[in-house]
Amino acid sequence: MTILRWGFLGTGSICAKFADGLRSLGGRLELVAVGSREGANARAFADRHAGPACAAHGSYQEVLDDPRVEAVYIGLLNHQHAEWSERAARAGKAVLCEKPAAMDAAELDRVLAVCAAAGTFWMEGFMYRLHPRQLLLRRWLREGLIGEVRLAEADFRFDAANLGSAWRVSPEGRLFNRAMGGGALMDVGCYPLSWLRWMAGGEPEALSASAVMSAGGVDLSVSAALRFPGGLLGQAAASVVAAQPCTARLVGSQGRILVEEPWKGTPGARLVVERPGLPALVHAAPDDGLSSHARQLLHASECIAAGRRESPHMTWRDSRDQARCLDAVRTEIGLRWQ
Ligand SMILES: NC(=O)c1ccc[n+]([C@@H]2O[C@H](COP(=O)([O-])OP(=O)(O)OC[C@H]3O[C@@H](n4cnc5c(N)ncnc54)[C@H](OP(=O)(O)O)[C@@H]3O)[C@@H](O)[C@H]2O)c1
Repeated sequence: MTILRWGFLGTGSICAKFADGLRSLGGRLELVAVGSREGANARAFADRHAGPACAAHGSYQEVLDDPRVEAVYIGLLNHQHAEWSERAARAGKAVLCEKPAAMDAAELDRVLAVCAAAGTFWMEGFMYRLHPRQLLLRRWLREGLIGEVRLAEADFRFDAANLGSAWRVSPEGRLFNRAMGGGALMDVGCYPLSWLRWMAGGEPEALSASAVMSAGGVDLSVSAALRFPGGLLGQAAASVVAAQPCTARLVGSQGRILVEEPWKGTPGARLVVERPGLPALVHAAPDDGLSSHARQLLHASECIAAGRRESPHMTWRDSRDQARCLDAVRTEIGLRWQ
């Protein structure tokens, strides 16, 4: 039985992954409409990822106007997330929106006010929050597996030059384009910052950051140090000009944990726990058989079907605090949108 009928805003690379994830759920969710700036793109995307029954619209607004659509996934560029979240909520559609939720905290406050007034579900799409491995890690920390956590560090980096896309490396492309909310912080640095806040279970009481900037004024590489109440020190790093792999580490009073490839649910990535006097505990990712994209859509659908307005794994307050944290890093590194 279909739980929910989805419409997608956008036909880019992440939308394709979400569409394939949705299809892998074997009919539990339905992709009923896709919108693109070009109707032909929308049709080609719908045919490739869903089939002829999926409507193809030549604008994003038409997806919102489509009465069959119950929820929308917003896979547009960073500077478009807030506008289309707001428009979707006003149209009465539930929203799963790509990270980062908005260009700044003030913009996100406006989105959430509209969602609250409309009574719609809204969620920022940080897929890693739902991964069984991350949930296991959180349980370990709660149970005190490595004692009191004192240091946490995480990075997310890749080299855009390896992506094989001319648009991706051009100054006009979304990664390097200031007007589109480009830069390492907004594209990938938001992950380690979000993870540090999640691991700390609170917000930083002190923060400093520095970055290497592009000629166009966005950060190519960024590093931030955060101090949390209770004595946890965090270090986040991100880059769009330094190759993977990515890692995260936690150091506690009674041991340490290495998290391999923390962000994407990479098959084979492990949690490695080392504690003095004990054999190393190596844990392969628990596997629920779902791609990160399918899991995210299914989770949002279940929340919506249950009448929730927020996800317990990524609450509105969490997204607000995340946006404030991004604002603070941007102030430190001098990244301004205008
Ligand atoms: N969760 C994740 O793992 C993950 C991974 C990658 C990216 N993302 C996020 O997803 C979003 C999209 O990233 P992507 O990698 O899918 O980008 P992409 O492949 O370049 O796709 C860009 C999307 O934006 C739309 N768009 C609207 N105005 C545009 C313009 N002026 N120029 C180019 N495209 C425009 C395009 O839609 P139409 O052409 O169809 O209108 C297309 O759907 C970003 O916010 C990014 O941070 C998330």
